[in-house]
Amino acid sequence: GKVAVMLGGISAERPVSLNSGAAVLAALTRQGIDAHAFDPANRNLGDLISGEFDRVFIALHGRYGEDGCMQGALELLAMPYTGSGVMASAIGMDKWRTKLLWRAAGLPTADWAILDAASDFAAVEKKLGLPIFVKPAREGSSIGMSKVTEAGTLAAAYATAAEHDPLVLAEKFIDGAEFTVGILGDAALPLIRLAPAPDKAFYDFEAKYIRNDTQYHCPAGLSDEQEMALRQLALDAFRLVGGRGWGRVDLMLDSLGNPYLLEVNTSPGMTDHSLVPMAARVAGLDFDALCMKILEQTLV
Ligand code: DAL
Ligand code: MG
Repeated sequence: GKVAVMLGGISAERPVSLNSGAAVLAALTRQGIDAHAFDPANRNLGDLISGEFDRVFIALHGRYGEDGCMQGALELLAMPYTGSGVMASAIGMDKWRTKLLWRAAGLPTADWAILDAASDFAAVEKKLGLPIFVKPAREGSSIGMSKVTEAGTLAAAYATAAEHDPLVLAEKFIDGAEFTVGILGDAALPLIRLAPAPDKAFYDFEAKYIRNDTQYHCPAGLSDEQEMALRQLALDAFRLVGGRGWGRVDLMLDSLGNPYLLEVNTSPGMTDHSLVPMAARVAGLDFDALCMKILEQTLV
């Protein structure tokens, strides 16, 4: 039957989603699927019914695509879709509530504070210690994020993040390396270690999508034991938010090898710079096979 590949949408990550969706659409088409682009920014969801679509591949990122809203609408239309359901999508979009769940379950995540305009910024700088990462709690692709390294500049970083979301998270800096773990079905994919070019303060939007000097290491160079332990941690972290089908868990490892979970992405990037496709390839699944495997989950 007909498959709608949802792409674009109205979030700040629209440009990323247009790339993810185009790649997914091309892959499904190559595999003989009757797939069509569907941009909810300029289509009525009722077109899914009148257009006789059978299922939806969600390649949307961010608000109204990855946060449970679209998932809820598709539930009401009785339209099967890829990936996580309403609750996991909503929690996964919210880095603060995700961390609260992990902390409650004893999974490791860095200390944090929630900021608002009335926060005592100096006290937060003191409590968390510099540097501090400041993030809109419900945004993706590092949009609105900054790394605060100088005392007295947390308020400015807060203001930048608050342009994107009134809910702003200040997170203690973990001195180490960033890793990501793709989740596909019931299994975790090989870890990828991210090494932004030395002039980048962190793995930001530019390092993610624009520059070609970000290094990706997969296999990540960990011992088998540590690799397996971190894959299990990522699966636990994903399951705790209720994730289903596929996704990606980001984490840091400090210099002693202690892990700190960063966030869950329930609709991760599928662009040619993206990480789940990279890890899948190392696991022996090319991009087309990955897309088919994600789509097949809508049949069960
Ligand atoms: N939010 C972007 C698309 C990602 O996690 O890959
Ligand atoms: Mg994200």
